[in-house]
Amino acid sequence: MSQDNHQVRLAARPSGLPRESDWELSSEPVPVPGHGEFVVAVEYVAIDPAMRRWIAPTAFGEPVAIGAVMEASAIGHVTASEHPGFAVGQHVSGGFGVQEFARSDGTGTTKLDPLLAPLTAYLGALGIPGLTAYFGVLEIGRPRNGETVVVSGAAGGVGSIAGQIARITGCRVIGIAGGPEKCRWIVEDLGFHGAIDYKAEDVAGSLRELTPDGIDVFVDNVGGDILDAVLANLARGARVVLSGGVSQYNADETRGPSNYLQLIRARASMAGFITPDYEDRYPQARAEIAGWLRDGRLISREQIIEGGVRAFPAALVKLFAGENIGKLILATAPEGD
Ligand SMILES: NC(=O)c1ccc[n+]([C@@H]2O[C@H](COP(=O)([O-])OP(=O)(O)OC[C@H]3O[C@@H](n4cnc5c(N)ncnc54)[C@H](OP(=O)(O)O)[C@@H]3O)[C@@H](O)[C@H]2O)c1
Repeated sequence: MSQDNHQVRLAARPSGLPRESDWELSSEPVPVPGHGEFVVAVEYVAIDPAMRRWIAPTAFGEPVAIGAVMEASAIGHVTASEHPGFAVGQHVSGGFGVQEFARSDGTGTTKLDPLLAPLTAYLGALGIPGLTAYFGVLEIGRPRNGETVVVSGAAGGVGSIAGQIARITGCRVIGIAGGPEKCRWIVEDLGFHGAIDYKAEDVAGSLRELTPDGIDVFVDNVGGDILDAVLANLARGARVVLSGGVSQYNADETRGPSNYLQLIRARASMAGFITPDYEDRYPQARAEIAGWLRDGRLISREQIIEGGVRAFPAALVKLFAGENIGKLILATAPEGD
């Protein structure tokens, strides 16, 4: 049976929130592995806020080229192999892109154990979001037992895990998220000690009430006004962890924190980090996260959108509208399945 590989390609560099017309659907024959290669049937693609940056002229590296298949972290299984290390049926994760099939030589590919955790958790707590939370909190934030930790984007993929790791470390954790449902979830199900609905509350005022002794660690996924509000209430020696700045990703010009002089008053530091810098420690971090998942101290929630690769443009918009709770993932089952 001949099968096509449906793909999503970048058609135009968007201004503001990406539109349907910034993408084009293409199809080509399913690739055949060359010597030392294998082919993956992609099952799930992570919908990441950073995708907006990967297609911008201001991307940290080379932006995705016009006409290229959109880059994406994904998971799937091997369907054909000329590679001695990857057998047909093996589940893998890697940067396979927004397409139904990908050819790989194994670079940047991780073998997955579907018996250890549901496959989608490898794009959640056991994937880049969980690893970002792990290294952001423990390596950059370095919270100590009893300290106060605030997390923005707290009901998202990274934020929900970051808050739980801080709680496991013995900290008092306050999450900032959009809407009552998200705020209820992080407190009632994830064990955060408090939540601020930034869409309904005065964030600076609520922070003063909920963190009367100041904030020791802030894990920021959002930037903008929320970052400014937190900077105003830092405790002495605070650590501000720059994980991301989703409020700025669709803006033509990034707005920096206007309240940064508060770092001087608080003798605080603010540091960014890139998760793949810790790649050699992923196995140890995954093992520890898997232990927390097993003993019920950590919850990984993934929200799956069906519809195949053609649903990708709408899925990305949903992410920026805050319609996801937990990690947003697109199921890429080939059309017609
Ligand atoms: N440093 C690294 O290596 C690294 C690696 C991976 C991810 N990250 C960063 O981690 C952050 C979270 O990524 P994720 O994959 O877990 O996404 P996510 O938090 O699951 O999804 C994005 C969330 O951002 C919030 N949001 C969207 N627009 C916003 C705005 N204008 N203002 C405030 N909040 C807004 C929405 O939640 P609300 O409903 O609460 O607004 C939305 O659900 C991103 O900034 C990403 O770039 C960093």
